[in-house]
Amino acid sequence: MLSAKMIEALNRQVKEEYYASNLYLSMASWCEVNGLSGCAAFMYEHAVEERIHMMKFFKYINMMDGHAIVPEVPMPPSEWLNIQTVFAEAYQHEKKVTNLISILVELSSKEQDFATLNFLQWFVSEQAEEEVLFKEVLDKVKLIGDGPQSLYFIDTEVQKINNRVPGQENGAEEA
Ligand SMILES: [Fe+2]
Ligand SMILES: [Fe+2]
Repeated sequence: MLSAKMIEALNRQVKEEYYASNLYLSMASWCEVNGLSGCAAFMYEHAVEERIHMMKFFKYINMMDGHAIVPEVPMPPSEWLNIQTVFAEAYQHEKKVTNLISILVELSSKEQDFATLNFLQWFVSEQAEEEVLFKEVLDKVKLIGDGPQSLYFIDTEVQKINNRVPGQENGAEEA
């Protein structure tokens, strides 16, 4: 079963995933009101994924005889300077979460909590995938630049990424 310290650490991660979900939801809203429907769809999808991550931690804590707590989370920002800033911040956020997962892995290994160590493996792979994906989008955004038609091209490129069906389309190996 889980140590008190581990329950606390896992509950902290519930809060982080919840915040990430709200952050991406807020980014989706900003994209939508700024006419970037492809970027909005990308962020809406990721908001849902972060909510799923939160629930995985939540259910695991209770399954292991801990007590999952519904957290209070800070309000995410609602305004961004431009789409470049949105994706730069999203990528930074993914890197931060990867770091938090690594700290949890370290703790579970130190405590010889092999069930949690095993549970966390899914998140280790997931974070690697998400970092690759967010970096890919950010690289595209940077490459397109901020010329007169750039918003249109950025949105089209992000929509192409949204349309990729995992395991079926080109690029899916790394998605
Ligand atoms: Fe996540
Ligand atoms: Fe994520």
